[in-house]
Amino acid sequence: MNTTAIRKQMSIHPDVMDLLNNQIGMEMKASASYLAMASWCDQRELLNSKAFFYKQAEEEREHAMKIFTFINDNGGSALSPDVTNVNNDFESLRGIYETGLEQEIAVTESIFKIFKTARKEGDLITEVFLQWFISEQSEEEDTFRSIIDVFDLMEGMPLKMIDERLPKE
Ligand code: FEO
Repeated sequence: MNTTAIRKQMSIHPDVMDLLNNQIGMEMKASASYLAMASWCDQRELLNSKAFFYKQAEEEREHAMKIFTFINDNGGSALSPDVTNVNNDFESLRGIYETGLEQEIAVTESIFKIFKTARKEGDLITEVFLQWFISEQSEEEDTFRSIIDVFDLMEGMPLKMIDERLPKE
């Protein structure tokens, strides 16, 4: 069956599917990025932060898989993404969390873009599907902002002491 024939049976709009495939790549990149951050924390025995980022890495992979199966379940074709240029080089723990927040903001903006396209194209199935992601992004951004607040409050304290105040997930 060629791609055109597959697309005729889809319940999601083709343009929306392309954006969703792009989103799979973004979530997998986020997963790989959090894994790199977890490793940095692990090497420095920052126990809460390492647990936090290992968990984040898993969660981002779950997000990617949610979208992956959604596309295939709705007659589309999900594509396994290339994940390249993962940064493993970090300056500080605070910098890692700030990068995490920036990453989450970019993901939120991308989800909004897909949501708006789905709405414009009358793709209600994707619109409903993405509602969960919008709530999830709001929670994740809030978590990162709260963590950065802890750094502000504890400025000058030893890193391990700050780490002990941070959430593990
Ligand atoms: Fe799935 Fe936090 O982006």
